[in-house]
Amino acid sequence: MSEEISKSELLKLPFMNISLALEKRVEDLLERLTLKEKFKLCAGRRMWYTKPIKRLGIKPLAMHDGPHGVRVDEQGKTQSTYFPSTICRAATWNPELSEKFGIAIAQEVRDVGAQMLLAPGINIHRTPMCGRTFEYQTEDPYLNKKLAVSVVRGIQSQRIAACVKHFICNNQETNRFTVSSEVSERALQEIYFPAFKAAVQEADAWSIMSSYNKINGIYGSEHHHLLRDVLMNKWGFKGFVVSDWSAMNRTTSTESCINAGLTLEMPTLNKYFPSKMKKAFDEGKFTEETLNDNVKRLLRIMFLTGLFDEESTLPQGSRNTREHQILARKIAEEGMVLLKNEGDLLPLNMDKLRKIAVIGPNANIQTFLGGGSSTNFPPYEITPLEGLKQKCKGKIKIIDSPAMADVTVFFGGLRHIKGMDAEGDDKNAFALPPEQVELIKKTIKENSNIIVVMIAGSPVSMIEWINEVPAVLQAWYGGMETGNAISAILFGELSPSGKLPLTFPKYLSDSPAHVSERTYPGDEKVFYDEGIFVGYRHFDTKNIEPLFPFGHGLSYTNFTCENLILSKEKLTGDEILTITVDIMNSGEYPGSEVVQLYIQDFESSVERPLKELKGFKKVYLKPGERVTTTFEIDKSDLSFYSENLGKWIVEEGNFNILVGDSSRDIRLQTTFEYLG
Ligand code: BGC
Repeated sequence: MSEEISKSELLKLPFMNISLALEKRVEDLLERLTLKEKFKLCAGRRMWYTKPIKRLGIKPLAMHDGPHGVRVDEQGKTQSTYFPSTICRAATWNPELSEKFGIAIAQEVRDVGAQMLLAPGINIHRTPMCGRTFEYQTEDPYLNKKLAVSVVRGIQSQRIAACVKHFICNNQETNRFTVSSEVSERALQEIYFPAFKAAVQEADAWSIMSSYNKINGIYGSEHHHLLRDVLMNKWGFKGFVVSDWSAMNRTTSTESCINAGLTLEMPTLNKYFPSKMKKAFDEGKFTEETLNDNVKRLLRIMFLTGLFDEESTLPQGSRNTREHQILARKIAEEGMVLLKNEGDLLPLNMDKLRKIAVIGPNANIQTFLGGGSSTNFPPYEITPLEGLKQKCKGKIKIIDSPAMADVTVFFGGLRHIKGMDAEGDDKNAFALPPEQVELIKKTIKENSNIIVVMIAGSPVSMIEWINEVPAVLQAWYGGMETGNAISAILFGELSPSGKLPLTFPKYLSDSPAHVSERTYPGDEKVFYDEGIFVGYRHFDTKNIEPLFPFGHGLSYTNFTCENLILSKEKLTGDEILTITVDIMNSGEYPGSEVVQLYIQDFESSVERPLKELKGFKKVYLKPGERVTTTFEIDKSDLSFYSENLGKWIVEEGNFNILVGDSSRDIRLQTTFEYLG
């Protein structure tokens, strides 16, 4: 069986025939593999590769991090475009942009000769303290799902596999290798599952990464119920599950992972040592049929990503192109959120200013060393200060003394270091570093025209100074073009249009996960006692005023919305309700608005959130321009997960449609009845 087959003989084998149906090719190749070769395919080597089976021409499948750019090596020998952090991309509320991002980053993956990207990370923002908040999208399952589907589609349109991670309830870094997320079935169904499920069902995700943590007592990599029953059998996932890096060092046994449906152990062998696999197999702990299913999943993706194809027949790769850099800048520009702008301090007027003071610890830092697996090595990164210098050249003097300046721009926030926005640990404080708070306060006394620009990938406390500062821009980590994007926004080259994808609390104790040690950080277990009341579902239902609500983000222009019209007032069965609303730019700047549609259930047999996002549209309008936006709602948007019945149900009765500018700024509302 193991003798070499010549190249010309190989080419004649059915699995090499590209005109044969995918499943036929997969079956044919599987049949040719020995048991030993199947074992070999189940564990990785050299960090980012599967093992080759030379005899059959199976090359290693190569996979690389990460969510903000392709990183091939730790030394930066291979450079790539550094895109804005995931949270910044999410703040664009622009699925088309996410799809373009997916296409671009996949082209970079192709260009380095790999087949899979270890992204997107779509864990829910359960707490602002999670060290990887910047790497994830949002607190809301609907927004999460729309963006995840777009990114995965974009990536896979280039025949590169997306790897959607981390499945599931990896919502904190503290004790991430050992902690068990104790979560209710309803919270899984309503909050944590939807984006993963949609990535599988609507975007056909080719791979899923299991999480380090346990879920209700069982490690993600050996969770038979979550992987085999839910992901594969219920959702119909056809791709393969890969372990998070070394996650399987802690799982119970070889067979528990195999039986759960985990195909690939990365980055190297632990539970999937061929000797261990052989022993478990001989002892009857798993069947060859089960192993075959796991292996077939990997083979399928190898075919789909073109591992057996002539390179010239695959979508072209490209890297570090001007086009990708422009896209990185566009995402940064669209993702930055103007949190506050009292007295219209912004935008700055180039013709009226003579001196700008630029201060603060983050004015001239680079952030590409993303704090763990989202590290990138771009050919350049424009810092905020460099961006401003470039913009002001020959027109405005940049100084460092607020007392002498017309206006001060303070750049503060966090960094990608342990205890801040970084992988492996959670943040060690919700507050800004005290020296930054002092500097802001001191500066206000010298010059009250201060704009605070937050370079941070998660919410920080602003309570000590927010009332004294007229303008705040949340700039996140904006990728390699961040300095240009920030100065474009500050000087009104374009109007900000980012909206918060998560609630900014006033106090950490207001946040739903921060009720007690039990709910965060936990110890061996962390209890998700808040259930479905995550993010604004908690703040709005319990009427706790946040610092800035979910969906909030100002513009330089004004938008008016009117004429909320429903296609019917009573909805029956599977009928679709069409909702239209007119949006008008009633200000003086061109700009984009995100129209947000929430649904409110009047009366229910179980406790429900005060409102839930069920639609959004980003529209670009010139001054005076008006557009009608259309939404569609059906009974699935009205339903909730009943733990008693073990399924999603919808109850008859009245529902409100709320249209607004954030979860707390509802501009229009109307009622309809669901008749069942
Ligand atoms: C992270 C993953 C990452 C992997 C490979 C793990 O520590 O949790 O997100 O893809 O490392 O770098």
